[in-house]
Amino acid sequence: MPQIQEFSTTRTDIAGISVYELASQFGTPTFVYDASVIQQRVSDLAQFDVVRYAQKACSNIAIVDLVRQSGVVVDAVSAGEIHRALLAGYKGGPGEDGTPQIVYTADIFDQMALDLIAEHDIHVNCGSPDMIAQLAERVSGAHITLRLNPGFGHGHSQKTNTGGEQSKHGIWFEQLAECKALADNAGLTISGLHMHIGSGTDLEHLAQVCGSMKQAALEVGPSISVVSAGGGLPVPYNSSQSYMDLDRYYELWDEVRKSLESEFEHSISLEIEPGRYLSAESGFLLTEIRAVKEMGSNRFYLVDAGFNNLARPIMYGSYHPISISPRNGDSREDQAVIVGGPLCESGDIFTQEEGGFVASRQLPKAEVGELLVIECAGAYGSVMGSNYNSKPLASEVLIKQGEAHLIRARQSLDDITRGEIIPS
Ligand code: LLP
Repeated sequence: MPQIQEFSTTRTDIAGISVYELASQFGTPTFVYDASVIQQRVSDLAQFDVVRYAQKACSNIAIVDLVRQSGVVVDAVSAGEIHRALLAGYKGGPGEDGTPQIVYTADIFDQMALDLIAEHDIHVNCGSPDMIAQLAERVSGAHITLRLNPGFGHGHSQKTNTGGEQSKHGIWFEQLAECKALADNAGLTISGLHMHIGSGTDLEHLAQVCGSMKQAALEVGPSISVVSAGGGLPVPYNSSQSYMDLDRYYELWDEVRKSLESEFEHSISLEIEPGRYLSAESGFLLTEIRAVKEMGSNRFYLVDAGFNNLARPIMYGSYHPISISPRNGDSREDQAVIVGGPLCESGDIFTQEEGGFVASRQLPKAEVGELLVIECAGAYGSVMGSNYNSKPLASEVLIKQGEAHLIRARQSLDDITRGEIIPS
């Protein structure tokens, strides 16, 4: 299990490269990823037979390629993510060990996704009964996985809870027999079951899934050869949070696996599907302070990144560690500040709590032109970026073995208007 994280409010470098050097080479705002952190997180999960990266957390093809080279397979939730997986070197169909390299997990198909699935022989994890019949119309004799909603869920926010009656995700557990009949009639084999109850949950809730999975697998029977524990592994975003006990988590799943193996008399492959756990801590959003404003008793640092770059604070009230990079490396006194962005919307505040309540943070004194780094931004950061206020998507940089590589060029103003047409 990784060590407890300590977050400092001063930062001079990322993966050994000075933040000022990174900012002068790539500009701001820029997402910077440390490859070694992703590789370390992959190796933390080595006990599981299969680690499948939920690329929705950070889907730049250089990151997807990096996890591929670390022996991880991939999940895709859309045609776009299948396209990314293919560009990053994954193939459709089973790999050498029989494990599908790419699995499409969703609650619906759109035409584009169905076309790619049929063309590249992509394994499908069905999140609704309708998908079973729709897939059978396009491909014959396929093996499928069912994503089940076990009737309960839990996430770091109500918006990331994917189980229970209020969730649109997965097949309701009581419809399993009906789906088995649907698959049988359509000539599809249910070879896997999957449950993902939410993102950023805890061991207690994740452990409950084991019992539901065992029961569901016994109901389907020996055609099951894969069980997937889904994603959801939390990471600490501040010093009071800790890592989950991965050994304990593995043990719980291993018990399920062993009991199914003895029941079915064949081996069962145990998958895990993390997004956040692999990429969150690798990512840093590098920004420049462009204004220091006093508003009555409040002091604001306004930086050149906004919720168009990192939406987690405005969407969930998420806390991200923030650090300042004093230009001369000198030590500074802390002061209470509110950190906001450039957008023409008052919710464009990085230091806010759920419900939009603005909070202040103790950060070192800083001046216009100095750098501010928003940390743990590698999961659900750049991927949730938008062009709101016609702001270009930020550039992305990957640091690998001490070298910084541009992996996404900052958008130009023409990129923003591409595809728009003024009718003649
Ligand atoms: N598998 C499935 C089927 C999922 O729906 C998700 C996340 C994952 C795996 C990966 O979950 P993770 O290991 O990253 O927790 N935008 C939110 C998170 C939304 C997660 C959606 N599904 C955030 O910024 O916290």
